[in-house]
Amino acid sequence: ATIQAFRRALLTWYDHEGRDLPWRRDHDPYHVWVSEVMLQQTQVQTVIPYYQNFMAIFPTVAALAAAPEPDLLKAWQGLGYYSRARNLQRAAQQIVTDYHGQWPRTAAGLADLIGVGPYTAGAIASIAFGEVVPAVDGNAFRVFARLLMIDDDIAKPRTRQRFENIIQPIVDPERPGAFNQAIMDLGSSYMTAKNSDPAHSPVRDFDASYQANRVADFPVKTKA
Ligand code: ADE
Repeated sequence: ATIQAFRRALLTWYDHEGRDLPWRRDHDPYHVWVSEVMLQQTQVQTVIPYYQNFMAIFPTVAALAAAPEPDLLKAWQGLGYYSRARNLQRAAQQIVTDYHGQWPRTAAGLADLIGVGPYTAGAIASIAFGEVVPAVDGNAFRVFARLLMIDDDIAKPRTRQRFENIIQPIVDPERPGAFNQAIMDLGSSYMTAKNSDPAHSPVRDFDASYQANRVADFPVKTKA
C-alpha cells in the first residue's frame, strides 16, 4: 500500500508540476537518447537550445549516422566533452548498420550501444519503450538514499546495482518512464543536493530522512 501511495503522490505531482521540456513532447527513442546524452554533463536550461538545433539539423538517427564530422562537432560546440558527440554518431551508425534501423527495446539490449551506460539504457528503455526498469543517475541516488535512508557509499561502483535492486520494485509498472522522469524532477526541485526543501516535497510523507531530521546525512559519498 505504501509503494502505491508513493507512486500516486509522485505521479500526481509530476502530471501537474513536471517540467515541460522539448524532449518530453513524444517518446521517440532518438529524442530521449540525444537529450539524455546532452544532459549527462550539462544543465537543462543550457541543453534546451542545443537540443532544438540538433534536431533541426539531424532529425533522425539515419541523418546523424550520415552526418559529416565537422557538422556534428559544430552542432556540439559549447556543450563540451566532444567524445559524447562522437560516441553518439558511432551508436547511430551501429543502429543503422548492425540493427537495420531497429532500436533495441530493452535496457539490456540498449547497453550494447556505444556510449550507452546503465543510466541512459534505463532512461531510454523506460521512457521510449515502457520497460519497467529504474534509471539511476545522480538524482536517483540522492532521492532514494534520502527517501529510504540508504547508507551505501554512492562513490563505490557496486552501489549502483544495489540501488537498482531496491528501486526496481518501486518503479510504477504502468508508467515507468514518467516515474523515472518524476524522480529526476524531484531531484532538481525539492530534493536537490544543496538548499533542498523536503518539507514541501510531494513525497515528504514517504521521506524517511526528512521524518528523522537527517536529510543532510544522505546520500553517503566518500571523497574519491
Ligand atoms: N536530467 C537527466 N535526464 C533528464 C530528463 N530526461 N529530464 C530532465 N532532466 C534530466
